[in-house]
Amino acid sequence: MNQQVLAVIEKIRVLGGEQYGESAWRNPIRQDTGPILQALVAALRPKTILELGTGYGLSTCYLALGDPQTTIHTVEFDKSVAEQAGEYFQQAGIDSQIRQWICPSEEAIRQIPKEIPLPDLVFVDHAKRPYKDDVRAIIERCSGKQILILADNVEDRKQELSDFLEWFGGIALTSTIVPTQCGLLVAWV
Ligand SMILES: C[S@@+](CC[C@H](N)C(=O)[O-])C[C@H]1O[C@@H](n2cnc3c(N)ncnc32)[C@H](O)[C@@H]1O
Repeated sequence: MNQQVLAVIEKIRVLGGEQYGESAWRNPIRQDTGPILQALVAALRPKTILELGTGYGLSTCYLALGDPQTTIHTVEFDKSVAEQAGEYFQQAGIDSQIRQWICPSEEAIRQIPKEIPLPDLVFVDHAKRPYKDDVRAIIERCSGKQILILADNVEDRKQELSDFLEWFGGIALTSTIVPTQCGLLVAWV
């Protein structure tokens, strides 16, 4: 199963990976970030993960590799991209642990806790403008539950995320930035 996922990871990297990121709009996680996501999931063993920004599913594959028991709810508003990601999940043999939401992130967040159970871990990697509102909405809907928040691009897109980072610094219980190529925020709220 791991071999199957790793083969798909290589495929996404080559076919839809680093090369599709010229505009930076749909850049996948960088090579240094996947194993960190995998290790955090393996250590925490979250029952439910919520991912904002599926893209072609590179980060989703690493999250799934961390624990085959976890259920990943992943959100992507571009239908054709989400469908391609769905094909990759099938090829990787991880589709049974993944629920895809093809809609804007704010719409998916409104499904907590009815259709999306309270997440234990949230990975944020969609457009940068909604980071603050979306993370705040998730925290409000989880009313007091501790969540591990992981957010990509907090260094390379720092300017765009300045309001999020300022606000988040005031509410996080603990917070650190792993010095990956893009900067990965790892925080408990
Ligand atoms: C940086 S890419 C995600 C890369 C993915 N995490 C990976 O590692 O392969 C961001 C994706 O989020 C989607 N997106 C951006 N803003 C969104 C929003 N508000 N709601 C849902 N999807 C969004 C984009 O269409 C894009 O495919």
